[in-house]
Amino acid sequence: MSQNNLSKHLWTSQFVFIMAAVGSAVGLGNLWKFPYITGENGGGAFVLVYLGCILLVGLPVLLSELVLGRAGKANPVQAMQYHAKNNKASKFWTFIGINGALGSALIFCFYTVIAGWAVAYFADSLQGKFIGIDADGVAEHFSGLLASPMQLLFWHTVVVLFTVYVVSNGIKSGIEKAINFMVPGLLLILLVLLGYATTTGGFSQSLEFLFTPDFSKLSWGAVLVALGHAFFTLSIGMGVMMVYGSYMKDNVSIGKAAIWIAIADTVIALLAGIIIFAIVFANGMEPGAGPGLLFQTLPLAFGDMTGGWFFGTLFFALVVMAALSSAISMIEPAVAYTEQNWGWTRGKCAWSLGGFLWFLGIGTILSFNEWSDVHFFAGKTFFDSLDFLTSSIMLPLGGLFMAIFMGWVLSKEVRENQLGFSPVLDAALMIALKWITPVAVIIVFASNLVDSSN
Ligand code: PFF
Ligand code: NA
Repeated sequence: MSQNNLSKHLWTSQFVFIMAAVGSAVGLGNLWKFPYITGENGGGAFVLVYLGCILLVGLPVLLSELVLGRAGKANPVQAMQYHAKNNKASKFWTFIGINGALGSALIFCFYTVIAGWAVAYFADSLQGKFIGIDADGVAEHFSGLLASPMQLLFWHTVVVLFTVYVVSNGIKSGIEKAINFMVPGLLLILLVLLGYATTTGGFSQSLEFLFTPDFSKLSWGAVLVALGHAFFTLSIGMGVMMVYGSYMKDNVSIGKAAIWIAIADTVIALLAGIIIFAIVFANGMEPGAGPGLLFQTLPLAFGDMTGGWFFGTLFFALVVMAALSSAISMIEPAVAYTEQNWGWTRGKCAWSLGGFLWFLGIGTILSFNEWSDVHFFAGKTFFDSLDFLTSSIMLPLGGLFMAIFMGWVLSKEVRENQLGFSPVLDAALMIALKWITPVAVIIVFASNLVDSSN
């Protein structure tokens, strides 16, 4: 077996690797999306289904991605090229890597714009702009931001500059440094906010909402939302975990790392839900407010409560750190590819790629104002098209083929070498990868397509 050895970087320790992967996983998906889709889908029963999706589909795919990355020792494109060759499989499998590097870069083009909203809200909260604000004021604030291309461009640029700067400095002196401060920081803020949530008077109602399943509120559509979100929230299917896995030392346990990543991401999503709904209920607000939950409902609540300035500012600082540590991971697959394949310096790769994606991001910005009536794809704005193309097509497709490759193509020898699972655990993993994941993803995939054509 030939040895691929394209990755020149290595994480300093197993712990730093887990923090970086947790930083990638924990983001807007946990703090913004999970609470609002849970609110929209009635709470408890949805949470239970989501947990099932993480365990049965998310965890197996996460394990696969880390195995393919570490055994491939290269960026997702060349790692898959290598695996295909070593397993005497078709070159088609390289598609997984291309799909990932491209997909994660495209997610970056809208994720940085939304992250920019969070930075703007942090700055506004810090300046006391939400103190005493009323419902109309909050709505105006939000629509005012979205209506202003210049404001959006400013914050988008701030986010892209920071992210690209970090990535351009490499793994040890770039990503690790940023992660070492952001991930502990966000955990600390989360705990402070949790303590605060217990004092709001909405705490027990929040727990009840999240943890008392009422299956009459669950729709088939909600199950599909939960499964799709399991991929997005764990950063899987996009080669991000693959490239992070390629920087892992050979002697550390992939199984343990994957469990930690999945637990951290899940617990943080649940904590965010507990905190947000405690605030929502304490203020007699609606849990099903949709995407505006984070940017409209919360500032209103914070504006009205004692300590609201402090805790509101802290809350948006949390969102910013979570979003930035995820954004960093989204350009790493493409940067690693250009670095390893074209032999450019890391700085050159990161800045040229970042510049190009920053430019594409302008399309996202304009989707909320000047181009809100311009349709790029099936009646969707540029932003909605990007979101649909990545979240509903490229991401499930990537996850599906990773599961199939790991379940049906990759040699048992490599798998055992990488995972060292007991026969029982390995058999369970194989059932998940060969059957559960493919069937589940094909259902989601098909239903998404049917949905979008209606
Ligand atoms: N997992 C991130 C979140 O929950 O916000 C988002 C994400 C990161 C998606 C990286 C995809 C990705 F490749
Ligand atoms: Na997440």
